[in-house]
Amino acid sequence: MSIEEQLKKIEELYTQNIQEKGIVSSAVGWNTDDCQFLRFHKLSSYIQEENYTVNDYGCGFGAHLKYLTDIMKSSVSQYNGYDLSQNMLDSARKYLDGYEGKLVLKQNSDIDTIADYSFVSGTFNVRFDAEKEEWESFIKETLRQLSEHSTKGFSFNMLTSYVDWEEKHLYYGDPCYWFDYCKNHFSKQVVLLHDYHLWEWTMIVKK
Ligand SMILES: C[S@@+](CC[C@H](N)C(=O)[O-])C[C@H]1O[C@@H](n2cnc3c(N)ncnc32)[C@H](O)[C@@H]1O
Repeated sequence: MSIEEQLKKIEELYTQNIQEKGIVSSAVGWNTDDCQFLRFHKLSSYIQEENYTVNDYGCGFGAHLKYLTDIMKSSVSQYNGYDLSQNMLDSARKYLDGYEGKLVLKQNSDIDTIADYSFVSGTFNVRFDAEKEEWESFIKETLRQLSEHSTKGFSFNMLTSYVDWEEKHLYYGDPCYWFDYCKNHFSKQVVLLHDYHLWEWTMIVKK
């Protein structure tokens, strides 16, 4: 199956989730609001400024923006949310009603907006039947786009390969491999966070 076919299946999964469950963290695959926000906390932990613009790749219903504005008290002047699922983006428009910055929501898997910071939370986890190498090529191309479209930095998370059980349809990234990849391809300043209680890690690439 091609990557396009996998992305179609992923789009259908999340569309069905949001239709059945509504705007709740379980609709984007998380067990609790707390663990969803813990991921946002890790991904955003290196940001010093109060005002900035954001790309959110696989934005779901836009919860990361709410975290930035309501919990971090940041002023996000533009939020570019990307998602495969139009239903997710429609939910984001509702959920983010009242946001005072510029809201750009794109049903697209390619990034074409420049922002200070870009985030990816959970988007690389579900690979369905894609082969490991094929999925890693897709991730590398996406990281290349993130790097080109982030002026100050980008961060992403993955399920960790340090597990004793793997689900067949999910991708578990080796943090050492991806750390090395980011160091060699994107920046000298790379931070790996693998110190929290989820079966995941977060990579921060500073420009
Ligand atoms: C695990 S959910 C996380 C949503 C959000 N980041 C959060 O943490 O609340 C992943 C989201 O990414 C979207 N997605 C998956 N692959 C994508 C791709 N290649 N391009 C754009 N969106 C994608 C899905 O539709 C889904 O809404």
